[in-house]
Amino acid sequence: MSQEPGLSNLMHEERRFDPPPELAAEANLTVEAYEEAAADRLAFWAKQAERLSWAEPFTDVLDWSDPPFAKWYVGGRLNAAYNCVDRHVEAGRGDKVAYHWVGEPADDTRTITYADLQREVNKASNALVELGVQTGDRVAIYMPMIPETVIAMLACARLGAPHTVVFGGFSADALATRIKDCAARIVITSDGGYRRGSASALKPAVDDAVARCPDVRNVLVVRRTGQDVAWGEKDVWWHEVVDGQSEDHTPEMFDSEHPLYVMYTSGTTGNPKGVLHTTGGYLTGVTYTFWGIFDNKPDTDVYWCSADIGWVTGHSYVVYGPLANGATSVMYEGTPDTPHKGRWWEIIQDYDVTAFYTAPTAIRTCMKWGNQIPAEFDLSSLRLLGSVGESINPEAYVWYRENIGAGTCPVVDTWWQTETGAIMISPLPGVTSGKPGSAMTPIPGISADVVDDTGTPVGKGEGGYLVVTEPWPAMLRTIWGDDQRYKDTYWSRFEGKYFAGDGAKKDDDGDIWLLGRVDDVMNISGHRLSTTEIESALVSHPKVAEAAVVGATDDTTGQAVVAFVILRESAGDGGPDVVQELRDHVAGEIGKIARPRSIMVVPELPKTRSGKIMRRLLRDVAENRDVGDVTTLADSTIMDQIKDGMSTTSED
Ligand code: PRX
Repeated sequence: MSQEPGLSNLMHEERRFDPPPELAAEANLTVEAYEEAAADRLAFWAKQAERLSWAEPFTDVLDWSDPPFAKWYVGGRLNAAYNCVDRHVEAGRGDKVAYHWVGEPADDTRTITYADLQREVNKASNALVELGVQTGDRVAIYMPMIPETVIAMLACARLGAPHTVVFGGFSADALATRIKDCAARIVITSDGGYRRGSASALKPAVDDAVARCPDVRNVLVVRRTGQDVAWGEKDVWWHEVVDGQSEDHTPEMFDSEHPLYVMYTSGTTGNPKGVLHTTGGYLTGVTYTFWGIFDNKPDTDVYWCSADIGWVTGHSYVVYGPLANGATSVMYEGTPDTPHKGRWWEIIQDYDVTAFYTAPTAIRTCMKWGNQIPAEFDLSSLRLLGSVGESINPEAYVWYRENIGAGTCPVVDTWWQTETGAIMISPLPGVTSGKPGSAMTPIPGISADVVDDTGTPVGKGEGGYLVVTEPWPAMLRTIWGDDQRYKDTYWSRFEGKYFAGDGAKKDDDGDIWLLGRVDDVMNISGHRLSTTEIESALVSHPKVAEAAVVGATDDTTGQAVVAFVILRESAGDGGPDVVQELRDHVAGEIGKIARPRSIMVVPELPKTRSGKIMRRLLRDVAENRDVGDVTTLADSTIMDQIKDGMSTTSED
């Protein structure tokens, strides 16, 4: 693992931050939960499921008779949308705010109560039925951060029609691949959304994708920006089909294992994996963790997670977790620097936000902008901060705690994945003395460990692979349409254990430090991208013969994409703009987030005798280090050729 030298610095981190006494005294999740869960894990999870309303109680907590295919809360029946919305209204909390929605343009805000949400979700459900959506049908959602995105997801959940939300920054190609993979027949989108001060179009990408997906019947379009859109015969305006619908809709109750959604994430091979989450277990996982890790007190807290709904963090901790708990959240459409770099802190001040959850890359960006920016705002409402997406480096942790959290807020560094559905490893805000840089220990109910190559747990002070050793309610159930890939990817490396793909180390106290991916998956700004996916995109360009991609350490984004390409002979030297052309090509194929930070045109790539590209060596070049051991290279002079022959490089 290349992070070893960095790690030894981390392991000397001596700072500890105790939970504030007031928070500890009133904490939802207390130290007893660890013992309770350890004494009887399944009884613990049965109790957590009581946070939900079940139309039909479950008869067994877990059926693990056919591993790795789990069934949680066997025989139970429930409706996810009912649990997120209706039951709060029925309990007399209809006037409670579900979302303070903040648009990017100044003064563009909406307040949405649980009663509002119920009416809107019911109307949208009736509209989807009118468009022919039935239980089990897949619906693709490609939207900006607006209330209709949540409404659309909940309407799908209410009908038992699994949604697949595709991040609005992905390209038409990426959208088409996902629509096809899960055979979605309906796409919900908008004309556009506001980003960085102007209207940014979404519909053209949908038009392009749908042209390649003949089985899509309808595209439901929310009017957000009012910009001009091309209009085809499949297109239907949201306001025309939703607004006139009845505000009543009786939800059907579904089996606990009914599919709730499919979320695509990058794997080590080219095509993304459709991670399937089902209803009862997932909802239990996010409801419990939202309550426990964010210590949510629905009557007094205002919570804000800055993640986009197009990622799993948005699913679990903008939509399902907060709503199932009846919480009040802030939802923000735009970027942190529009119209000024204090926008986030201004929102925290304006809405008296008490808990804020974001990613290390964003924290590092804010750090760069300077302490004086958050200092201009009153952030005294905050009592808890969270981090997710990659390890938070101690410097960013301490900056976050001091400059945003007044030196008193606990920082919960939460490790989890699209596949795990919910937080797995994290400090407990009212219990744990946090160490900057460590996600600490598995939360009550979760069993995880660090093992060596043979699957044996490592001792304190040792490193290895992170595994989850027992099934958990919010676990993925399979890869959509590919049970074998599910088994191979997660359950074959270590017998009977879930292999997360992350390297980790246990420190002398047994606390866990995450070290990044051990496979060919990169983590760019907390988002997963596979090297193969970007290599395929590069090779699809007519000038490229071969490509190798590595993730190089980057101060702001954690890792950055660095590509090495060999041009085809017919392309000559590629021309003066070849690097820009290739960067744009990748952005077009996958999305801007995948655009390489730099591309080096090289005469050769370093390969082993069996033809495997030695990415370790390329990473050395990308990070300007001396190149490591080259003895296994088929041609040991290649690295010199690469360093001498790098003709073009470009950085933003
Ligand atoms: O490598 C780990 C890193 O992000 C991966 C999961 O990515 P994704 O499925 O996109 O979900 C991101 C949000 C849950 C993990 O395999 N990761 C996530 N959180 C942390 C982390 N690495 C270290 N510390 C974390 N807190």
